[in-house]
Parts: sequence; structure tokens; C-alpha cells
Amino acid sequence: MPKPRIFVTRAIPQPALDRLGEVFEVSLHASDIPLNQDELMAAVTDQDALLCLLTDSIDQRLLEAAPRLKCVSNLAVGYNNIDVAQATARGIAVCNTPGVLTETTADLAWALMLACARRIAEADRWVREGRFTGWDPLLMLGLDVHAKTLGIIGMGRIGSAVARRAEGFRMQVLWFDPLADPRALPPEFERTDLETLCRQSDFISIHAPLTSETRHLIGAEQFALMKATAILINTARGPIVDETALIAALKRKSIAAAGLDVYEREPEIPPELLQLDNALLLPHIGSASVETRARMALMAVENAIAVIQGGTPPARVN
Ligand code: DGY
Repeated sequence: MPKPRIFVTRAIPQPALDRLGEVFEVSLHASDIPLNQDELMAAVTDQDALLCLLTDSIDQRLLEAAPRLKCVSNLAVGYNNIDVAQATARGIAVCNTPGVLTETTADLAWALMLACARRIAEADRWVREGRFTGWDPLLMLGLDVHAKTLGIIGMGRIGSAVARRAEGFRMQVLWFDPLADPRALPPEFERTDLETLCRQSDFISIHAPLTSETRHLIGAEQFALMKATAILINTARGPIVDETALIAALKRKSIAAAGLDVYEREPEIPPELLQLDNALLLPHIGSASVETRARMALMAVENAIAVIQGGTPPARVN
């Protein structure tokens, strides 16, 4: 019997590819240049499964072009790139990779918090420019992190992991998440509304999924509430923050800084943002550790295998 067919839209760690090959006939788009939508549609027409990235748009047209498709396995925990309703209507399983990237992404949110507060990237640029001429009492003064207030928007797995790390810094933790169950969270983490969180937090870290409710959740109105010393961290999804409003807030210094791993129109970054010293910019690397990417790839592979073999995938969203 011929093996089922899977299309993989980008190179993934080899052990995961090897495992995939045990079950599937694998077609791999190994190039670093992503397929455009027409190429992706053409590639999936005769496939039984698709292993894709958060940068691949799995929309209605694509699903219509793939009549044999039984599984869309996303190499990410977020799946806002997939039209889940359309997939469900066609009996296609949509799977993701929750859990395995939680701690790694929380680490990166903390790296951004610390780096923004202590101006690490800016100081590094300054040293490389040959401008370090000796210790100076007023040089590169940043802000303390310890004993401050951390506001977390989206208190799921990653938000909670970020909050746990705050204990070591003796920080007060506030959180806003209309969907989280406070009984499942330590009582010392204080649930609050978005307005209070914006007003009281020294650091605001976003860990919500991108949905119609969270798109532009943070905009001009919220920036106006924040402290002039506030630092905003986004390692979730770019469109949760109104980027134009963020740039305005950073320019007029109505907040102190922003640490961003994600952008509204990735990979486009507004040129104005690139000019700002109080913006620390990363290329969407929240889960990018060797160990975690290997775990994510294996999970995405096991998801696809389970669906195709009629089993229960580790993480199915529909
Ligand atoms: C995700 O998984 O959704 C991240 O954005 C990439 O790891």
C-alpha cells in the first residue's frame, strides 16, 4: 500500500523528518525562501497532510485546493494563520504544539524585560562604536527590575511561566485574562482589569493568542494610561498591539521602552521603529532554542502521524 503523503513547508530538525518518513511519503520545501500562496496551493493539491509554519496562510482557498487533506499540523502553539472553522467544516484536523515551548518563550520574555530595563542592546552598540571611554556615574542609566510590578496580559501557560519567574525578583504580579480561571493560579498573582494593569504596571508582558478580541487590545488609549517608566514586552503576536500607537508612545516617551519579538506585518518592521533606541527588536525567536525547536518539530510530526493513523494527536485544536 502506498504511504500517505505529507507536504512540509520548510526544513525542520532532521530527527523529526526521519520520523515523518517512517509513515509518510514526505515532500519538503527545503529552501529558505517561503513559497508564495499560489505555490503553496499547488504543492498541497494531492497531499494527505500538511506540516506548516505560522507564516503559512492556511485559508479557505488553500483548503479547497487540497481535497485529500486530513491534517494541518502547525509548527507553533499559535494557529491564527489557519482558518480553523473552514478546516473543521471539511473534517480536517488542525494541530499545534502547546506546552513544549512554554518555558523557552517565558525565558525570552524575561530576556527582553531585563534587556530593555538595563538598555543592554543600546549599551552593546555603544561599546562597539568605540564610545566607552571609562566609568561614568551617569552612563546608560536604566531602570530596576526587582521589586517592581509586572502586569501579564494572557495568563495561560506562557503568561503563568513568566509570572513564576517574577517571584525570584520579588515583584508584584498583576494579570488580565478574561478566559483564565483564577482558582487555577497562585493567589499572590493578582487578577485585575486591563485599565488597572496598564496604570499600575512597570512591565507589561503580552501572552495572549491573536483573536478578534485581542487584535489591537493595546492601542493609544492603553498607552495613555501607562506610566512614563513602563516597559512593554510582546512575544505573542504583533497585531495585539497597535504598532502606530506604540511608535507614537515610544517617540514621545510616554512609555520608557518596548521589547518586541513580533510585529503587525511580519517580517515588515516600520522604518520608524528601527530608528528608536528605546525599542529592542528581535526576529520572532521566542521558542528558538535547539531543544525546544526539536521538541516542537517532533510534536508536530506526531500530531500528523496520529491523525493519519486514526489515533489521538498530542494536540488537536478542533
Ligand atoms: C508559536 O509557537 O506560536 C510561536 O510564535 C513560535 O514558536
